[in-house]
Amino acid sequence: MQITDNVYYVGVNDRTKHRFEGLWALPLGVSYNAYLVVSDKVALIDTVEADFFGEFLAKIRAVLGERKIDYLVVNHMEPDHSGSLELIRRYYPEIRVVGNAKTHDMVRGFFGPQGGEDIVVKEGDRLSLGGVEMQFHLAPMLHWPETMVTYLPAQGILFSGDAFGCFGALNGAVLDSRMDCTPYFPEMERYFAAILGKFCAPVRTALKKLSGLDIRMICSTHGPVWTENAGRAVETYRRMSHGETEPGLVVCYGSMYGNTQRVAEAVAEGAAAAGLRHIAVHNLSVSQPSFVLADIFRYNALAVGGPTYNGGVFPVVEDLLRRLAGRQVEGRHLACFGGYTWASAAVKTIHHYNEKMKMQWVADPLEWKQAPDADALAAARRMGEALAHAALNAGAPDAQ
Ligand code: FEO
Repeated sequence: MQITDNVYYVGVNDRTKHRFEGLWALPLGVSYNAYLVVSDKVALIDTVEADFFGEFLAKIRAVLGERKIDYLVVNHMEPDHSGSLELIRRYYPEIRVVGNAKTHDMVRGFFGPQGGEDIVVKEGDRLSLGGVEMQFHLAPMLHWPETMVTYLPAQGILFSGDAFGCFGALNGAVLDSRMDCTPYFPEMERYFAAILGKFCAPVRTALKKLSGLDIRMICSTHGPVWTENAGRAVETYRRMSHGETEPGLVVCYGSMYGNTQRVAEAVAEGAAAAGLRHIAVHNLSVSQPSFVLADIFRYNALAVGGPTYNGGVFPVVEDLLRRLAGRQVEGRHLACFGGYTWASAAVKTIHHYNEKMKMQWVADPLEWKQAPDADALAAARRMGEALAHAALNAGAPDAQ
């Protein structure tokens, strides 16, 4: 599929996989994007997962026929993009792999010694295809250490790797200007929260570096090619990497027999009664983590609750806390609640995790023994009110 005079889309859709990276739900599928830049010489920008190699090769041949590929530019070595590297080298034995020093280390690690000559690029290096020039910019820890982007200065096209990518397979069209992009921006937020949420600082560094480029088209490795929505894609990454939130509350809980759920519902009711309109309630035994994380990245208040279980907090709650402790989510208002039957440990465990999450407490923890009584439910509603007032009036707290 031709997208400019020199650039062809040769990516594939994955509508089969249930979990991206084995972790993140894919209700709309995902695309693995790869591109051909065709001039006097030919460059392939990234590959696709190995399972899709046959379809990928057919797309390449539909563009090139029997013509050879001169360069394989590896912007990112994660196997959703490098998975077909070894097979491409078998079909195009003269292809030269272009990457930075870390890329080539990883190529050898994943695929063994390389045949042919590596091309090792550094920040700002250029490589000419004849009529088209490629320039390389390193974007380390976005989200792997070898990550880089490839820029066509004359065309204003950025091959951005995972940056500005999103979940969601492509439904016929590739260019954003030819489709309804409505489903893709929530999927971009979910992708960012899941994949890049730990790496906000490297994202900010990369955005600063890329801000000096004239970017008219963004060809990422997942999701639509951004043209008329390029600014919105960049703004989404800017906003999320800076931890910018909007007033709203996420209530996350785990519950075995409904007692913690009753408290969670009372927290949400209290927040709603106080005038907060954006409230998301997640039963962590049911909600997929990436959807929970996306809501937590979006809103400025969080309530977490669960029963004591095996001397700690209920496992699905601890799973969320562990994920949050590994992400940059500090600018949030926080409250917690937890019941126990004979020995209390849940709220203490939640407090322990907040030493890494670094959110700002807005209410005392709420505990109850066995079932919550009327006083406990009233306290839960007051907790919801306090969170709502903080969310509406205080904005996001400063990071500690
Ligand atoms: Fe799409 Fe980080 O691989």
